[in-house]
Amino acid sequence: MAGRIPEKFIDDLLARVDIVDVIDARVPLKKAGKDYKACCPFHEEKTPSFTVSADKQFYHCFGCGEHGTAIGFLMNYDHMSFPEAVRELAAKVGMEVPEEAQASAETVSRNDTLLELLKQADQYYRRQLREHPDAGRATGYLKGRGLSGEIAAEFGLGFAPPGWDNLTKAIGRDEQTREDMVTAGLAVRKDQGGYYDRFRERVMFPIHDYRGRIVGFGGRVIGEGEPKYLNSPETPLFHKGREVYGLYRGRDAIRQEQRVLVVEGYMDVVALAQYGINYAVATLGTATTRDHLERLFRFTPEVVFAFDGDRAGRDAAWRALENVLPIMESGRQVSFLFLPEGEDPDSMVRKEGTEKFADRIRNARPLGEYLIDSLVEKVDLSRMDGRARLVELARPLIEKLPNGVFRQMLIDRLGEKGRVSAENLSTLLGNPQQTASSSKDTSSRAASRAVRQKSTLMRHAIALVLQHPELAAKVDLGRLQQMDLPGAQLLAQVVERAAEGPQRSTGALVELFRETEHYQPLQKLAVWIDPASEVATSERDLQRELTDVLARLQRQALQGRIETLTSKEALTGLNTAEKQELVALLAEKGSPGPTPESD
Ligand code: UTP
Ligand code: MN
Repeated sequence: MAGRIPEKFIDDLLARVDIVDVIDARVPLKKAGKDYKACCPFHEEKTPSFTVSADKQFYHCFGCGEHGTAIGFLMNYDHMSFPEAVRELAAKVGMEVPEEAQASAETVSRNDTLLELLKQADQYYRRQLREHPDAGRATGYLKGRGLSGEIAAEFGLGFAPPGWDNLTKAIGRDEQTREDMVTAGLAVRKDQGGYYDRFRERVMFPIHDYRGRIVGFGGRVIGEGEPKYLNSPETPLFHKGREVYGLYRGRDAIRQEQRVLVVEGYMDVVALAQYGINYAVATLGTATTRDHLERLFRFTPEVVFAFDGDRAGRDAAWRALENVLPIMESGRQVSFLFLPEGEDPDSMVRKEGTEKFADRIRNARPLGEYLIDSLVEKVDLSRMDGRARLVELARPLIEKLPNGVFRQMLIDRLGEKGRVSAENLSTLLGNPQQTASSSKDTSSRAASRAVRQKSTLMRHAIALVLQHPELAAKVDLGRLQQMDLPGAQLLAQVVERAAEGPQRSTGALVELFRETEHYQPLQKLAVWIDPASEVATSERDLQRELTDVLARLQRQALQGRIETLTSKEALTGLNTAEKQELVALLAEKGSPGPTPESD
């Protein structure tokens, strides 16, 4: 677990390790100017575009876009886990991975105990489905729902018999084990002492993690009753926001199909499998989270969500949409399939069969279309204020999208609907198009994935600080923290971390963000070449450049607030405080204004 190795240790480690040595030992490097080069180990090539910077302690391939720190290289090249890579590097420079990390040995053994109990419970439930005198009720129920014995066995369905403590008696041999059963979510402790089974008189669905280990259960009431499904509680092994039902069993089918279907219920997954659709998975009674999605995107670039056609289904779809926006990177595809009211995938596939259902999957509505159509429904496009409102409604959603082709296409589409020019729209969306990475940039660097990202002031600022951490010392952090612009908080964090550790290389700086959502974007910015600044680094006054970019960002923030207030004034009017604010802002804008940190 990455979080357990203290940040300070990683920092010290990366200060001592030289990425050039680490990589050179595996992929022989040649010196080329300040950097080192080789043919990329991550893709086929004849001329070297794999570059290692000793300065930044970072590697980057201009051909395939792979990049990272010394730790990242080992993870990528030697397929090590994060702790393994850290241990390997520590051993190399004679450092000892500290105690805190060792504690994970205890965690490992506790988890092993819990996994073992869950496995025993699973065996127990499955045996009861075959042998218990009351099992006929469960098997009868499953048959009644059209499930074959084969499919039930394949999903490992079981039966928790009636009675308070069957399982506890069967596997809870001593007090410690019964306590562990509570931790594993299998038993519940009574206030007055003693334990009882969490799952009683239910059909049991074992939940496997992506490695095939049983980490929890869902139990369905037989027939009618409340709650219909009882799930394992959050435990050290089971996190509803992360686990996906059916992923382990379906992983090969998902890879083959290049697509995963996300449904709402256990029964939907099982029924679809019985009809030959083996690439369906379900979230576990929660909204689809970003963790879920990141996990799914490791298997396939295309996710299709299936939702019931009713109100609840639509709400759930919208929540899924909001969660997926921030990770809509290029190459990823998301669509939404809405079933007729009153149907779920289980009932639907039984009614119309595999082929028709598969057609529905193929014809699901693409994310962009669904997003824009949903917003268009809420406004009157024949009116000017309606079109303005469309843009206002779209703004927070578009702001969530990472830069890239998809974002640009969505903005274009929105421009058409709202009859706003792309240029005006970009201004409205607080993302003025600068000299984008245009076709005039034909240097070999332009071929790299990193360079193709669009230039914005915010990216420019973050990249400057990330690539030249020494610049951070002179930045007014307080001011930055108050800046109301997308990305400003991240910029402030990067500045803060760079200023507090002047010895940190770019790589060490990026490494501090490994556990956060910003890690990927920061890795890219660490090697990003701002297409707007064509001048060689040696000829740039970097501090001046940063000061200038920050001043422009401040103006942008000011302008953004003014526009928000002005459009609100036009649409609904302003209260007194807002009026005063607007007057003050306009005055500030009109005045020549302070040139921040000018010399
Ligand atoms: P549904 O109510 O749509 O159930 O809940 P379903 O899957 O169609 O169930 P059947 O067909 O009646 O057996 C969808 C999912 O929401 C969670 C479960 O994960 C379920 O599969 N859920 C539902 C609960 O966790 N608890 C509940 O009481 C109900
Ligand atoms: Mn159902």
